[in-house]
Amino acid sequence: MELIGIIITLAFLLSFAASDRQGDALYDMKLKLNATGTQLTDWNQNQVNPCTWNSVICDSNNNVVQVTLASMGFTGVLSPRIGDLEHLNVLSLPGNKITGTIPEQLGNLSSLTSLDLEENLLVGEIPASLGHLSKLQLLILSQNRLSGTVPDTLATISSLTDIRLAYNNLSGPIPAQLFQVARYNFSGNNLTCGANFAHPCASSSPYQGSSRGSKIGVVLGTVGGVIGLLIIGALFIICNGRRKGHLREVFVDVSGEDDRRIAFGQLKRFAWRELQLATDNFSEKNVLGQGGFGKVYKGALPDGTKIAVKRLTDYESPGGEAAFLREVELISVAVHRNLLRLIGFCTTQTERLLVYPFMQNLSVAYRLRG
Ligand SMILES: *[C@@H]1O[C@H](CO)[C@@H](O)[C@H](O)[C@H]1NC(C)=O
Ligand SMILES: *[C@@H]1O[C@H](CO)[C@@H](O)[C@H](O)[C@H]1NC(C)=O
Ligand SMILES: *[C@@H]1O[C@H](CO)[C@@H](O)[C@H](O)[C@H]1NC(C)=O
Ligand SMILES: *[C@@H]1O[C@H](CO)[C@@H](O)[C@H](O)[C@H]1NC(C)=O
Ligand SMILES: *[C@@H]1O[C@H](CO)[C@@H](O)[C@H](O)[C@H]1NC(C)=O
Repeated sequence: MELIGIIITLAFLLSFAASDRQGDALYDMKLKLNATGTQLTDWNQNQVNPCTWNSVICDSNNNVVQVTLASMGFTGVLSPRIGDLEHLNVLSLPGNKITGTIPEQLGNLSSLTSLDLEENLLVGEIPASLGHLSKLQLLILSQNRLSGTVPDTLATISSLTDIRLAYNNLSGPIPAQLFQVARYNFSGNNLTCGANFAHPCASSSPYQGSSRGSKIGVVLGTVGGVIGLLIIGALFIICNGRRKGHLREVFVDVSGEDDRRIAFGQLKRFAWRELQLATDNFSEKNVLGQGGFGKVYKGALPDGTKIAVKRLTDYESPGGEAAFLREVELISVAVHRNLLRLIGFCTTQTERLLVYPFMQNLSVAYRLRG
């Protein structure tokens, strides 16, 4: 029985391996950007995935698809691990003071449609690996300190609709295909465009100017907005459906009478009173969900930390409290640091409670066994 329990636990953990890797990559990105104490405060590693973090957008499979951090004042460098975010569509970090080079690993982001690093302090060459971004539509690297040539590989990206490399320190020839892109801007470099060359340095932008254009823009914008709302509505319905699908629980079998010592590490032993206060005396309005194990309540600690408290009902085991503590240990050891981390627990004569970080995505709170 124990073996089956372990196997189920492992299967459960593996199902999160992908999101975990993404969380690690984003966390490394935060560190390398030299985020200060007040920046990205909710990007912490204790959560099962980064999908609840500010400025991070995931799809319905909890894959990170968008990271947008404009004008945040970051001064660090770009982490090569950004290349691990294999589902990323949009990476947008304009208007910061990011230094260093553009990591060649960004060429691994095969789903990327938009890369915007405008107005930073990036140096070095544009990596040739960016030519692998076969879905890229928008490439904005203007107003940095990039040097070297424009890589020929960029000419192979047939999906490009907008390329802006203006005001860098680039030199040499521009691949001819790049002048076919609907919107381009290479001004402010030492490149083969402008007065003495066949092509101007910037396309005459279709997005600027005429009132006719802007009226069409308004109409298109409105239509786009309505369609967008419909899509968001549909996604919302789908997500809710999925969430319900997650109610299935995973049961971990723990034998009761094992008396070995328990190493609790960072776990906090909460007083019943603390959890009563945190959940407004286990108020029904704070119930996040319910399963065979009992109810999960939303709560907040005095320092503002949001928690989810799982209150086990009918907790009966031959080992009593010792068995419960053993299970607490099992969860705290088995769960990888970036998965759902148990914050603490509470036991009284009649009650057994487990305390987790609160996540908007409830599926995990439901899934861990009561
Ligand atoms: C980022 O922080 C590290 C460690 O605090 C420091 O050594 C480095 O100079 C900082 N980099 C920038 C660009 O501020
Ligand atoms: C990511 O890119 C780097 C450099 O471009 C390459 O060496 C590495 O193999 C790539 N990794 C994956 C998983 O594609
Ligand atoms: C611009 O690039 C050239 C070589 O391409 C280099 O000699 C020069 O120092 C660079 N200027 C700046 C301001 O980086
Ligand atoms: C511009 O590039 C050409 C070669 O492409 C070079 O001969 C020239 O010195 C460069 N001019 C400046 C101002 O860097
Ligand atoms: C080209 O880019 C520069 C810098 O971003 C901007 O100032 C300029 O207006 C752009 N030119 C066109 C025609 O869009």
